[in-house]
Amino acid sequence: MEKQKHYARTLVTTALPYANGPVHIGHLAGVYVPADIYVRYLRLKGEDVLMIGGSDEHGVPITIKAQKEGVTPQDIVDRYHKIIKESMAGLGISFDVYGRTTSEMHRHTASDFFKKLYDKGEFIEKMSKQFYDEEANQWLADRYITGTCPHCGNDGAYGDQCEACGTSLNATDLINPRSAITGNVPVLKETKHWYMPLDKWEPRLRQWILEEHKEWKTNVYGQCKSWLDGGLQPRAVTRDLNWGIPVPIEGAEGKVLYVWFDAPIGYISNTKELRPDDWEKYWKSPDTRIIHFIGKDNIVFHCLIFPAMLMAEGSYQLAENVPANEFLNLEGDKISTSRNWAVWLNEYLEDFPGKQDVLRYVLTANAPETKDNDFTWKDFQDRNNNELVAILGNFVNRAIVLTNKYFDGVIPQAHELTSYDRDTIEEFKGVKDDLSQALDTFHFRAALAEAMKLARIGNKYLADTEPWKLAKTDMIRVETIMNIALQITANLAIAFEPFLPFSAEKLRKMINLDHADWNKLGSIDILKAGDRVEKPELLFEKIDDETIKIQTDRLERIKQENILKNFKPKAVAPTVAFDDFQKLDIRVGKVLACEKVKKADKLLKFTIDDGLKGRTIVSGIAKFYNPEDLVGKDVCFIANFAPRTLKGIESQGMILSAEDADGRLVVIGPHGEVRPGVQVG
Ligand code: 2FM
Ligand code: ZN
Repeated sequence: MEKQKHYARTLVTTALPYANGPVHIGHLAGVYVPADIYVRYLRLKGEDVLMIGGSDEHGVPITIKAQKEGVTPQDIVDRYHKIIKESMAGLGISFDVYGRTTSEMHRHTASDFFKKLYDKGEFIEKMSKQFYDEEANQWLADRYITGTCPHCGNDGAYGDQCEACGTSLNATDLINPRSAITGNVPVLKETKHWYMPLDKWEPRLRQWILEEHKEWKTNVYGQCKSWLDGGLQPRAVTRDLNWGIPVPIEGAEGKVLYVWFDAPIGYISNTKELRPDDWEKYWKSPDTRIIHFIGKDNIVFHCLIFPAMLMAEGSYQLAENVPANEFLNLEGDKISTSRNWAVWLNEYLEDFPGKQDVLRYVLTANAPETKDNDFTWKDFQDRNNNELVAILGNFVNRAIVLTNKYFDGVIPQAHELTSYDRDTIEEFKGVKDDLSQALDTFHFRAALAEAMKLARIGNKYLADTEPWKLAKTDMIRVETIMNIALQITANLAIAFEPFLPFSAEKLRKMINLDHADWNKLGSIDILKAGDRVEKPELLFEKIDDETIKIQTDRLERIKQENILKNFKPKAVAPTVAFDDFQKLDIRVGKVLACEKVKKADKLLKFTIDDGLKGRTIVSGIAKFYNPEDLVGKDVCFIANFAPRTLKGIESQGMILSAEDADGRLVVIGPHGEVRPGVQVG
């Protein structure tokens, strides 16, 4: 059971995205869209809530990107912070503050935090061995070391992970480690670091999560339990790196705070930035509810490491909930920044102007709340056309059009209600409680389905009562029907505000509803008879196949590019003796005719001039060629291949082709004039 505790205010934090690329639909579905729904909902209820966001601007991925581009890390974070901040605003993610971890405020806050823990004796100092590049005069973070993976033999593995086989590694596991900066063999040197003794906090973390927060989502609770059961180890919170917040103590020159030490403190710095005078009450007062919205890869940092830091500091409240989501995939594959396998928010906003709510809707309806989910462009189109247009948009449009048509835009009075009217009203009376219950417990998909139910009820009501037929005979009845339909429309404007803020605002303007009041949800006296509605405006429009194809073609192109980029020739097959090779009789032939084989979409039938009596060869390359383009070409074929019958045609040999990395087959032939029938060898 959810604990019934009264909170005076809520602080919502959202994972700070790394400023090394734009944000994509995975970030949005996992963190920002649900957090925004939650915050908008609390605001509608009139609660005191802050939504904290910002860019995470430290860490090795940023320095690597800078190095690749030959610019400074500051250039990289300036570029992406701007893109991220603007695109989030474009999607209506309503941060109260969107800061950055390179700000002065943050540097001081994080630095002071470290210093306080240091002064309290909360760290362990330890020497360890780490790779160093003597030519570059630089310590090498794990990502800066490449070598051969001890598990799969991939020789481009990184010091923290082999991307070929997915294994996490320690840099010292790599065979033949090399510096990614100079390519030199790095040396192992002793270095000093400061560690958070997580083991010390384990009993309190256990109590806090496993005993006091059994209501957390099972994916979050389960992951924490498994970490805790495995036993927590001290974790280094400093790094030898030249990009980050300097470690503020003597003897730590050239060292910076570990990015995962400073990033969550960013939530605090950004709150300070926003509310310099009363930020503390949002962090330190027990009647504040703190909620961290994150993706599943951040669970350990937000549920164990950051809380341990806060416990060690001593004056902060811990989170009340951490509703982490699972991952969103794209067309069946894991989203990946480095492989460009993503739908980027800034590009979406350019490609689909005015369609922010469509993306918000699809990402919520399909949110990876309990398991990984998949975004497909087909589903995006279907949900837009069959749900937003056909259900929500259709109902609203009918209600407004009919009011304009029959009553000149004036909201009519309701008269005597029929039992069907009463049943309909009864059906949506509970919407406020149902929606609130779902939102309070972070079930955003279910909440959206609940809001959509209201639109379905409205559609059914109009379809069943058919006011357009009654208009000829019973205008009094039509007045009642349209009043109820408009009250449902007003309910929709409130219910959808957290989910689809752009459309809800449009809708509110259409019915002249000044502000949405959550407490009015479920009632049928939101609009006053005699008030006016405006002319109808379409809330949603159909998305055609052409528009979707542009997106799927783009992804197809990226997939091909990735395949080609990652191509590595296969290992060479075992040696064969010359005599064995000579057993194959390879020859050149000229294509006299070529046609598709009926009922076989892969096969082409060739008539080959082989210098003898000619032969027929069937080959599986139909997907890659127009048959007429091959006529007249010289090709190589195996002349003594045992004949095979394919689709009733005897194939007398085999045409040689090369298979490219993406599976495309390319026919092999001589590069100069030769006679049909000559041998290859
Ligand atoms: O995983 C990430 O993208 C991190 N930049 C999230 C940081 S969340 C918080 F601690 F700032
Ligand atoms: Zn590997």
